[in-house]
Amino acid sequence: MVSVRYFAVSAALAVLVDAQSSIEQRAVELPDTWKYYGCYTEGSSGRSLSNQQPDNANLTVESCVAICIDSGYSVAGMEYGAQCFCDDFVRDGANLTADADCNMDCSGDASEFCGAGNRLSVYSNDTLVVFQPPTAQTADLPGSWEYYGCVVDNIDGNILPYMSEDIDNATISACIEGCSRFGYNAGGIEYGYQCFCGDHGNVTLAPESDCNEACPGDAHHLCGSGNRISYYTWTGAPLTTWQTATGAAAGLYEFLMSAPLVPLISTVSINDKVVFVEKHGTQVNNNSSGSFEFDPTLAPQYGTAFRELQLKTDVFCSASLVLPDKAGRQINVGGWSGDSLIGVRLFTPQMGLGVNGTNSWEEDFTELALMDARWYPTAVMLSNGSVLVVQGENGSDGPIVPTVEVVPRPAGVTNSTHLDYLELTVAGKIQSYPMIAILPSGNMFFSQYNNARIISQTDFSQIRMLPQMPGAVNNPEAGRNYPLQGTMGLMPQSAPYTDPLTIIICGGTTDGANFGLDNCISTQPDVQGSEWTIERMPTRRVVSCMVNLPDGRLIILNGAYNGRAGFGLATDPNLGAVLYDPSQPVGARMTSLSSSTIARLYHSEAVLMPDGRILVSGSDPQDPINPEEYRLEYFSPDYILSGAAKPTFTIADTDWAYGATVPFTLTSAFSGEVKVSLIAAVGSTHGYNMGQRTLFPAVSCSGTACTVTAPPDAHVSPPAWYQMFVLDGPTPSHSVWVRIGGDPAELGNWPDLPGFTRPGV
Ligand SMILES: *[C@@H]1O[C@H](CO)[C@@H](O)[C@H](O)[C@H]1NC(C)=O
Ligand SMILES: *[C@@H]1O[C@H](CO)[C@@H](O)[C@H](O)[C@H]1NC(C)=O
Ligand SMILES: *[C@@H]1O[C@H](CO)[C@@H](O)[C@H](O)[C@H]1NC(C)=O
Ligand SMILES: *[C@@H]1O[C@H](CO)[C@@H](O)[C@H](O)[C@H]1NC(C)=O
Ligand SMILES: *[C@@H]1O[C@H](CO)[C@@H](O)[C@H](O)[C@H]1NC(C)=O
Ligand SMILES: *[C@@H]1O[C@H](CO)[C@@H](O)[C@H](O)[C@H]1NC(C)=O
Ligand SMILES: *[C@@H]1O[C@H](CO)[C@@H](O)[C@H](O)[C@H]1NC(C)=O
Ligand SMILES: *[C@@H]1O[C@H](CO)[C@@H](O)[C@H](O)[C@H]1NC(C)=O
Ligand SMILES: *[C@@H]1O[C@H](CO)[C@@H](O)[C@H](O)[C@H]1NC(C)=O
Ligand SMILES: *[C@@H]1O[C@H](CO)[C@@H](O)[C@H](O)[C@H]1NC(C)=O
Ligand SMILES: *[C@@H]1O[C@H](CO)[C@@H](O)[C@H](O)[C@H]1NC(C)=O
Repeated sequence: MVSVRYFAVSAALAVLVDAQSSIEQRAVELPDTWKYYGCYTEGSSGRSLSNQQPDNANLTVESCVAICIDSGYSVAGMEYGAQCFCDDFVRDGANLTADADCNMDCSGDASEFCGAGNRLSVYSNDTLVVFQPPTAQTADLPGSWEYYGCVVDNIDGNILPYMSEDIDNATISACIEGCSRFGYNAGGIEYGYQCFCGDHGNVTLAPESDCNEACPGDAHHLCGSGNRISYYTWTGAPLTTWQTATGAAAGLYEFLMSAPLVPLISTVSINDKVVFVEKHGTQVNNNSSGSFEFDPTLAPQYGTAFRELQLKTDVFCSASLVLPDKAGRQINVGGWSGDSLIGVRLFTPQMGLGVNGTNSWEEDFTELALMDARWYPTAVMLSNGSVLVVQGENGSDGPIVPTVEVVPRPAGVTNSTHLDYLELTVAGKIQSYPMIAILPSGNMFFSQYNNARIISQTDFSQIRMLPQMPGAVNNPEAGRNYPLQGTMGLMPQSAPYTDPLTIIICGGTTDGANFGLDNCISTQPDVQGSEWTIERMPTRRVVSCMVNLPDGRLIILNGAYNGRAGFGLATDPNLGAVLYDPSQPVGARMTSLSSSTIARLYHSEAVLMPDGRILVSGSDPQDPINPEEYRLEYFSPDYILSGAAKPTFTIADTDWAYGATVPFTLTSAFSGEVKVSLIAAVGSTHGYNMGQRTLFPAVSCSGTACTVTAPPDAHVSPPAWYQMFVLDGPTPSHSVWVRIGGDPAELGNWPDLPGFTRPGV
């Protein structure tokens, strides 16, 4: 007799069966512990053994078992004389039947039986496990997911937009866990292995029996079927909530004036004028030198508001920083081709608002140049006051230059530093303008494509990898810097700066299809084990910008729904601005603000002006639809439109040592809490405001006499010029430029060459 032992394994879903000992078929010689377990039916709706091997006109029990052993399986079954199946289980409620049912001779040996029609001769080297037919998974679901039902999918246009496939190992839990991680409240599996995620909407239920395919990774549960989704919804607290602001709270875009150029970098100078650079030879206006200084107090007078600044080489896709020398010179490095690639250019802001300067960019590549050619480099101010120039390409669409160099070139240094991780290109595709930030630990955050790492500020070697940056829910192959460009922001840090710095990167795009990402990801790189937090944005966004506001919030704006950086490659402008408020709980930090009417695609910028408005510029799409964009706009956040009077203050000392206590005086009546914010000077390009940082230093006031305490060191605050705002509750003052940390690398004495202005230290 057959001896069968029933055994509850997982909620009574499986049955363990002892090897059949009493009835042996004709002499079969099997390896080791392989035994005959009896004659089984096929499953109720699927195969009882799921891995079918090619039919074999010469099948024997031994040959089928050998094939299954070769593939690492512990169960083998023969059916119809010539068919061989392998698996680790018997599935789908297959029943043991009479041995006499398996009565077909094996095609390769008429002395053995190889099952019959709908009957399998089953062999195994282990305790045989028989799974009952799969059911809809309703228990042991992750988070607050619940089964909704078997749902009809649309033939044209899936009801949930994001699909990923796992043919071998799909499970309901893994699918919907991914959906909620990326902020989607509906998900499920179709065709057994297609995982869909999206927002729960209008769905049509089908009969439960329509969803009849077992999950390949979980034979106990159902994973939809053709055009049917085993559909689940998140029933807990909303994963993401977005506000939509109206009226003054929504902020306002206002046309300012047209510029004589299509900028690709914008930088607010310490005299509150704005320096724009553009690529030379823009199609429409190729007679510009490539740079203008903009005096916002003279806008909109086209003739006087812009002053052309001469350049000798082409700054197309270079990098700019404001130096911490006492003149607040701007440095611009790298560029387009030939000699431009090694360009090092300096500009000294001169004269106050309303009064023209007379100077231009200073450069002489025969005397002062980068060591390596760099198109699309990143520039970073190091804690020691030197500038680090990172990566780039060797000319137009040339190979990546996998090196960094320090400017000014340290004595005795003759070569740049090669770094293996800078070679990282994906499928030969360029990933440049890596996103970098100095961390309070003293190390640096470095990210490119979907990789992030901590690197040393001394030799720039990798210290450790951070977890891979999540991309889209259905595609981890997504990037965040050029050309799959999202936008990076640093969240504000407040005295005593013990909370770790958080880096946030919003948007970007998938590789290949260039489907704009609808999430921001953030992490605290200095915290060991810190994972990426994913927060969904109200819309998808690529080639966008992010600006730190004086009140600690950030604004995400510009960009497109789809595409990537590059000419003619971004589509569907995303005109709406989004406010990100780090003081709110994760998942409830974003508010949709008002929209512009101007598409800001590739090569657009956004910078914080001294009055708290954002100057929005650029868009150089070179496509047949969207214009080359000369128009400048201001975006006024709610604090500008609130009607509250701007607070005022005076400060005598604008050159702060680390840790210094600096007096200032309130000169208006304050009704709210007095706070100070420090917003570091930036060069805004390619979704990356290089130099950005926001600090809320300690402040104390007695009447109108206040003091502010400078940040403690060059790790929390690398040497920099900052816009100092004093806030009365939510309302920021006009900013005053202060320098923090001095000029430790004595940039003010550099370069000692004819034709260059040196402010001294
Ligand atoms: C196995 O037997 C049970 C009880 O007779 C029956 O309900 C079930 O449908 C059978 N399974 C298959 C796959 O035929
Ligand atoms: C079938 O297999 C046997 C034993 O493995 C072998 O001797 C014979 O040649 C094979 N026949 C064919 C037609 O492949
Ligand atoms: C059964 O065979 C497979 C290879 O086909 C092997 O991986 C597995 O360890 C074996 N199981 C036992 C219990 O020996
Ligand atoms: C399948 O999924 C299970 C459970 O998540 C996991 O343990 C296993 O490694 C996966 N196997 C493959 C081949 O991916
Ligand atoms: C829901 O979908 C059904 C079938 O497609 C349609 O008839 C119905 O109008 C839809 N309801 C809503 C509110 O969209
Ligand atoms: C400027 O553009 C015009 C018209 O496209 C072209 O003929 C001319 O060569 C360009 N000049 C330069 C300096 O690129
Ligand atoms: C460029 O040329 C256009 C007309 O061809 C002229 O209107 C414009 O002023 C010039 N711009 C500069 C910066 O010279
Ligand atoms: C500044 O100089 C430019 C010429 O470069 C001139 O067009 C403009 O009127 C001057 N602005 C003022 C305020 O003098
Ligand atoms: C850039 O390319 C030029 C020309 O091929 C070559 O001479 C030079 O060494 C390259 N520079 C770098 C940094 O790769
Ligand atoms: C420095 O670079 C030059 C080429 O520019 C090369 O010949 C030399 O070997 C390099 N030196 C070192 C120490 O890498
Ligand atoms: C700053 O650090 C870099 C990297 O170690 C070094 O090359 C450079 O010389 C340092 N600058 C100063 C001013 O010490």
